[in-house]
Amino acid sequence: MKIINSPAEMQDLGKAWRCGGQTIGFVPTMGALHAGHEVLFARSRQENSRFCASVFVNPTQFGANEDLSKYPRPFERDCEILEKNGCDAVFAPTNEQMWAGYERHSGTWVDVMPFDEMWEGVTRPGHLRGVATVVAKLFNICCATHAYFGEKDYQQLRVIERMVQDLNFPLQIVPVETVREADGLALSSRNAYLAPEERRAAATIFRAMCAGRDAAQAGERNVAKIGVVMAQILSAERLIQPQYVTVVDAKTLAPLSILDGRPARILIAAHVGKTRLIDNLALS
Ligand code: PAJ
Repeated sequence: MKIINSPAEMQDLGKAWRCGGQTIGFVPTMGALHAGHEVLFARSRQENSRFCASVFVNPTQFGANEDLSKYPRPFERDCEILEKNGCDAVFAPTNEQMWAGYERHSGTWVDVMPFDEMWEGVTRPGHLRGVATVVAKLFNICCATHAYFGEKDYQQLRVIERMVQDLNFPLQIVPVETVREADGLALSSRNAYLAPEERRAAATIFRAMCAGRDAAQAGERNVAKIGVVMAQILSAERLIQPQYVTVVDAKTLAPLSILDGRPARILIAAHVGKTRLIDNLALS
């Protein structure tokens, strides 16, 4: 497994692979890898002749009040996990290599509208623009033919799908289902911040979504009523403070008031103690 820091060197390798007719499965990550990431790695390895991953804690997607410096960076362990998963190349650039010359109001930024003004875009201003821009750069540097994203970060997935469609990126986005703990909590590097009581409470998020989905499957079409079912379960858990709990069109992420047969998705963001968790579930 090659470990590459230089964007030019990574791009040369990617170009050589592509010219040789190989497919390049690419998984962008911020490291601190866990079993959720590994499902993406397995798909990428299985479905392509080359598998490339990036490990880069991207500063442009962190808000001023979010602690970028505290984000875990166990790079050697991450490399061991990638090697075990059959990775051919890890792209791990420095901030300087990715963002030299950029400032908030200079350089090329990718804004995917109106997603940037919805849900995560509202609560984390600038976050989705930081994600879309870094992912566009990573696609070009790694010469990806197939890129794997978790449904865990559903709005991020939709932003990237829309960007690829709008900007004609020559690659295919492959969504991968969320990996969960036995009690339903979605795997996330942030789960490590939860105290034992909070960890127990956090599973309520999945229970609430399942109750919402069950109500829809039992025939409830009125989204407000589905919302009440979920809110009752969440409010019974004092350690959880929901930020948004919503049912949206799975494609546009616009809120729905009635389920009319279009694919729909529950989106939740909630604080469990000081830790902010997001999750989502298909309704239909
Ligand atoms: P990161 O949080 O490291 O996640 C990398 C990928 O792993 C994302 O596509 C995410 O949705 C997926 N993932 C995380 N937990 C998962 C789970 N429990 N089940 C399935 N997939 C899961 O997302 C980012 O990094 C960054 O925003 C990035 C796209 C790398 C841009 O910087």
